Amino acid sequence: MDKQEIFIFSSIGRKALMAISGAFLGFFLFLHLLGNSAAFWGAKAFISYAADLHSLPVLVLLFEVVLFCFFTIHIALALISYYENLRARPKHYSCHKNAGGRTWGSRTMPYTGLLILLFIIFHLLAFRGVKPVEIAALVRHNLSLPLTAFYYLISLAALALHVSHGFWSLWQSLGLGLRHTDLLRKSSLTISIIGGLLFSLIPLLCLLSANFLVSTP
Ligand code: HEM
Repeated sequence: MDKQEIFIFSSIGRKALMAISGAFLGFFLFLHLLGNSAAFWGAKAFISYAADLHSLPVLVLLFEVVLFCFFTIHIALALISYYENLRARPKHYSCHKNAGGRTWGSRTMPYTGLLILLFIIFHLLAFRGVKPVEIAALVRHNLSLPLTAFYYLISLAALALHVSHGFWSLWQSLGLGLRHTDLLRKSSLTISIIGGLLFSLIPLLCLLSANFLVSTP
């Protein structure tokens, strides 16, 4: 069978897989944001959320395996598409032409993607495998360091930019983008800005408030 005849190797198949994996990663971000928002109710609430999560090890492991698979698929497809675009591009430009309809989000996808990958490695090294009882103090400690907080804020801005185009692409893949172009573009941007700001509140509060995530006996 010709490689192009196998659905997942066809450009439509790859687009669909990119959309499905992106949607799952977005779903994870939504759950993570929901869980992290326990921090706004204080250190005890944050620790209790982490303890609840750790009390379901099989479910969490299953979710992590699926997350890792979708993450790997998403990166592999992005690399293939980046490589194909490079090959298809004419070698010499007399000037840089701005392809119609391209946005900041779409143009920077490979770079914001790379920043997010580096952020996740750094983030997992810092927080994965920590005991629930220590989690609030560790988040507080790490994110009240100006350099780390700044790194989080830059990475979260990159994430918001990446997700804004990701959402838009998802609508396109579902065939919705053609009808309500403007509305969907604006809603993608709004959702990603709100998500980015809510995530950013944690490093900002760690940096600026002396009481945030500090345990009271
Ligand atoms: C200020 C924002 C964030 C804070 C305070 C935060 C905090 C945490 C903490 C405390 C954990 C460990 C949870 C536990 O084991 O109990 C964790 C895990 C994780 N975080 Fe974040 N996070 C933030 C943003 C992000 C973002 C933006 C991403 C993705 C781009 C992300 C991806 C992950 C992943 C993949 C895990 C591992 C999940 C697992 O092992 O099941 N986090 N985060």
